Amino acid sequence: MKEFDIKEESLNYHALLAKNWGALTTKGADGRVNSMTISWGQYGSLWMNGRENNLPVATVYVRTRRFTRPLMDSSAAFSISFVKPEYKKALGFLGSKSGADYPDKIAASGLTTEFYNGIPYIAESSIVLVCRKLYQARLQESGFVDQEIKTASYSDGDYHVEYVGQIVAALKE
Ligand SMILES: Cc1cc2nc3c(=O)[nH]c(=O)nc-3n(C[C@H](O)[C@H](O)[C@H](O)COP(=O)(O)O)c2cc1C
Repeated sequence: MKEFDIKEESLNYHALLAKNWGALTTKGADGRVNSMTISWGQYGSLWMNGRENNLPVATVYVRTRRFTRPLMDSSAAFSISFVKPEYKKALGFLGSKSGADYPDKIAASGLTTEFYNGIPYIAESSIVLVCRKLYQARLQESGFVDQEIKTASYSDGDYHVEYVGQIVAALKE
């Protein structure tokens, strides 16, 4: 894959995430690599005005019970891979099986891991965003203005952890 200037690209990020889905991939401090399917997140501008070339950021949300969560917590970086449509079935695997049950969940899904400066991503992708972690915090129950979201998404109390990453590299085929 080749690097491209994401600021010059017009991405339909909502469609990429909500329709195509992404693969959130990271390597924990112990060296363990894992990937899980995501469809929630944002892409935009935060904190970077006038700093570090005003690079955009991406935010992802991981429930505390995911195998991926402690890996995300202990890692300085993560990637979001938009896997090519013909591999959608593999995204179904990444989104339903746990890394707790597979020593190499990415290989078990039929996909391949590659690395950008040591940060893992999925090779079979059309677009990959490589992110340096800037911020992480668990969503607060007290923060919900719309109580219906709380009921619909968090009846079990498993609030997502939010991770904001600076997009340090964007790759495409
Ligand atoms: C389409 C789709 C979107 C998903 N989006 C998210 C998400 O944004 N955040 C999340 O925590 N889990 C999400 N999941 C669930 C995880 O991908 C799933 O629980 C996965 O098995 C976790 O893998 P892990 O235990 O190896 O971390 C999604 C699943 C699917 C199928």
